[in-house]
Amino acid sequence: MVEYPIKQIVDILNKKESVTEHVMDVEVVELYQELEVYYRSALDKVETKLLIIDRELSSNSHQGRKNMIHQLQKRIKRFKSVVNKLNSKQLNFSKDTIINNIHDFAGLRVICSYSDDIYTLIDSLSHHPDIKILKIKNYLEQPKPSGYRSVHVLIEVPVYFLKETKQMTVEIQFRTIAMDFWASLEHSLRYKNDWKSPELSEKLQTIADNINDLENDMLTIRKAIDRLDD
Ligand code: GTP
Ligand code: MG
Repeated sequence: MVEYPIKQIVDILNKKESVTEHVMDVEVVELYQELEVYYRSALDKVETKLLIIDRELSSNSHQGRKNMIHQLQKRIKRFKSVVNKLNSKQLNFSKDTIINNIHDFAGLRVICSYSDDIYTLIDSLSHHPDIKILKIKNYLEQPKPSGYRSVHVLIEVPVYFLKETKQMTVEIQFRTIAMDFWASLEHSLRYKNDWKSPELSEKLQTIADNINDLENDMLTIRKAIDRLDD
């Protein structure tokens, strides 16, 4: 297995060295692109599974809830982010180090209407015989100190390619619409510049709690309406 020294790639990315002089960086980019094909395919497969679950549960025969999935986003980790993450873990760049250590190379974000939809979707997905749940981080039950709430699920799914079947790891982040509003804005505020203010952090935390209260109020109303329909 070919390994490329991570420091050198970081230097190239930081433009401390000329990119064109290196045979190595052509090879690393090609390796990244090869992995991208596999991970994109895994994302497509998992996206389809989730859309099918949502469609079936929304159908009349199930008398389920409409539009549990408000929005679905997918992304492949950018080359630079892969390099930075390997560097922070003091690992060199290779197919093995990426596959074994970068679990969010392929990421799906499922934005749900209500928090109970998140559990319904995860439960349905976990019943697919080809899906293996590797890890669940439940930040709904135990929110992050920042105020962040969501459920992160790491799964393994087989993808059938021309010559082989590959077991691919995909990270799915399940959030509610309300939490997506908070997380998107908080993310852009935090990463805009590297501020560290306990007061502002506390304010953001309080806003997260308030948004969660509003969401629960909406859920209470929805449940009352659900009962009227029964
Ligand atoms: P990473 O190495 O960043 O993946 O951290 P980790 O392995 O500890 O994963 P974690 O479960 O913390 O999830 C990281 C991802 O969750 C981030 O890339 C964000 O998308 C999201 N996330 C986690 N915490 C926060 C937060 O406080 N605010 C926002 N806006 N997003 C968060
Ligand atoms: Mg991550």
